Amino acid sequence: MEKKAVYPGSFDPMTNGHVDIIHRGLKIFDKIIVAVLENPKKRTLFSTRDRVQMIREVFSPRDRVEVKAFRGLLTDFLRRNETNTVIRGLRAVSDFEYELQMALMNRTLDPTVETLFMMPSLHFTFLSSSLVKEVFTLGGRIEGLVPVVVERRLKDITRKPKGLRQYV
Ligand SMILES: Nc1ncnc2c1ncn2[C@@H]1O[C@H](COP(=O)(O)OP(=O)(O)OP(=O)(O)O)[C@@H](O)[C@H]1O
Ligand SMILES: [Mg+2]
Repeated sequence: MEKKAVYPGSFDPMTNGHVDIIHRGLKIFDKIIVAVLENPKKRTLFSTRDRVQMIREVFSPRDRVEVKAFRGLLTDFLRRNETNTVIRGLRAVSDFEYELQMALMNRTLDPTVETLFMMPSLHFTFLSSSLVKEVFTLGGRIEGLVPVVVERRLKDITRKPKGLRQYV
């Protein structure tokens, strides 16, 4: 049977830290489903559609990566996708408390759920979507921190009137 896992997050936008975690996950699983959270309460720079689209462009069809948007409970999404495994990335101790809370809550909601934590390569341990957006807004270089597709989209946004300013 195909071994698959779900990697959930906001991915606003995807960074090379996320890409690193997905590649590590692909060494263990036959397929990774990237679940892009649509949270009506959280303001995002990119629409759900754009976030999904960009991730699809980062991976090729033979990469065994599927990208889907989701809203609501992760445990329901897992059931719909016939898996009980979640992948999450751990950058530093600071991620741990929140991740532990989420993992235990998901296990409480559905005792069959297991969360697997993976560490990124050392150069990505400082990287987050928020930091990328902040640095980019202030005119800093983000080459090597995000996939080329994302870099291009960020540049497109700043060319539009209001663009990033509207978000920040
Ligand atoms: N650089 C990274 N290395 C390893 N894991 C990461 C990295 N960035 C994010 N992750 C993990 O990916 C998952 C999804 O993260 P999320 O979409 O919140 O990204 P983020 O970079 O933390 O964005 P934000 O700054 O908006 O919180 C989480 O498990 C998070 O810990
Ligand atoms: Mg985060």
